[in-house]
Order: sequence, then C-alpha cells, then structure tokens
Amino acid sequence: MAWTEHQHSLLQALGLRVWTPPVAEAGSLAPAPAEPPRVAAAATPSAAVPAAAPTVAPTAAPTAAPVALPSAARGALGTLGWPELREAVAACRACSLCEKRTQTVFGVGHEQAPWMVVGEAPGEQEDREGEPFVGAAGQLLDRMLAALQLTRVADGDARPEQRVYIANTLKCRPPGNRNPQPDELAKCEPFLVRQIELVKPRLILAMGRFAVQALLRSDEPIGKLRGRVHRYQGVPLVVTYHPAYLLRNLPEKAKAWDDLCLAAEVFERAS
Ligand code: URA
Repeated sequence: MAWTEHQHSLLQALGLRVWTPPVAEAGSLAPAPAEPPRVAAAATPSAAVPAAAPTVAPTAAPTAAPVALPSAARGALGTLGWPELREAVAACRACSLCEKRTQTVFGVGHEQAPWMVVGEAPGEQEDREGEPFVGAAGQLLDRMLAALQLTRVADGDARPEQRVYIANTLKCRPPGNRNPQPDELAKCEPFLVRQIELVKPRLILAMGRFAVQALLRSDEPIGKLRGRVHRYQGVPLVVTYHPAYLLRNLPEKAKAWDDLCLAAEVFERAS
C-alpha cells in the first residue's frame, strides 16, 4: 500500500517524516516489498527506531568539506585483501586490549555492501561471539536497519543495495566496556581505514562519538554534527547517535530516525 497525497500532507502536518522504500529495479534479486512507507510513530520503548514524536530533519542537507586521510592512519595495511586483513586483526597485539580479549571482532556483512555502519567497540557479548553489535544495542541497530529494509546478512536474498557492512573503531573489547582510549583508537584505526577501502561503501553511517572522532576528526557533539552530510574520503557520511545511547535516551530515537531518513535520501540521490 502506498500513501496517498492527502495522507502525505496529513503526516507532514503532524511533523512525521515519511520514508518511501525505493522501487526494485528490473532484474534485482527480490521484489520491493509492498509495504507502506515508514513513519516515525508514537513512543513505545520496545518499538524500533521510529519511537517518539519525530522532529523533521532539514530537507536540504548542507554538505561538509571532505576530510583528508592522514597517511599514518593507513599504516602498512594499504595492500591487504580481506583474508590477510582478517588475519592481521586476529593477530594484533598493538595495544593492551589484546591481553583481556576473548577474540577480536572484525566486522560483519557483505564485503561489497553499499552501506557501511561504523560503531565504537565490542562489548561483552561481541567479545564472546566475535561479531559486532550482537547485544542489546545490536538488536536495536538491526531494527533500525530493517526499518530501511537493510540487512547485515551477507548471503541472504537481499538486493545488493540493501546490504550493510558493520565494523567498529576498535576490534577488541575495552575492559568493563570503558571508553576507548586515544592510543587504542590510533593503533586500531588502520584496520578500519582498510575495511572502508575494501568495502567501498556508497554511504557511511557513523554511530556515536568515537566513530565520528575516527572518521571526521571532530570532537563536536553528535547533536551538532547530525542533520547534514559529511564526507569521508569523498564518501557521503551521516552522523547519528549510538544505539546504546538511544537505549538510555528513548526520546532521541526520533532524531535517529530522521538521521536514517537523511542517509536513505542521500543514498538514493547518489545512486
Ligand atoms: N557497541 C558498538 O559500538 N559496537 C559493538 O559491536 C557493540 C556495541
């Protein structure tokens, strides 16, 4: 079912942002589901991202200047392919986080996904399972992605444009889930840089302070950086709140929904 023009006007008058799933191209793997567009709905703590009464994000998103990549961030990894990079991460002992980890947490998703999500660091569950975002924050992230018909499942029947690759700024769990330290971020950064180079995403979603610091070299709060399009190495980048923060601050989910809608618009425009 599609929204009528009248329904659109009503939703807009209520300040509800509408996201319309793109129509599947001929020859794509799966048909576009015949679902109504997503609307940020009334607050329900257990609901997916569209939770509280949403604010309407600016339709014209100003674009920030590209960020130059410091050569130190690339290190010696610039020629590694996926298997070698995975091995390098698993063998890494560059900082003290290696001493307490159960295992490294590399990344998950399709290796050529057009969407890339960058988070912070593995937590307890991720450290145990070896996959990013599998705890409560990860479940919220999956619901957020599902609201845009996106998935981390690499070998499912998703259309290519629905695929997401997820990686963290740190590949090892900081003990007790403390914040990543600057030296840990600096040592781990070349892995993320190489992952982005290999994935070649068409859009990056930076979730939370540490992803933003790593990718945009900015200490500005998320609230100041969201709502516009940044660039990382020429790739459009949208900033949003970290899902763990959203779990503690439910009203901010509406803003995160706006950020996702902005990301989807930018992605569509760039396609
Ligand atoms: N938070 C993150 O940023 N990454 C994870 O993998 C899990 C929680």
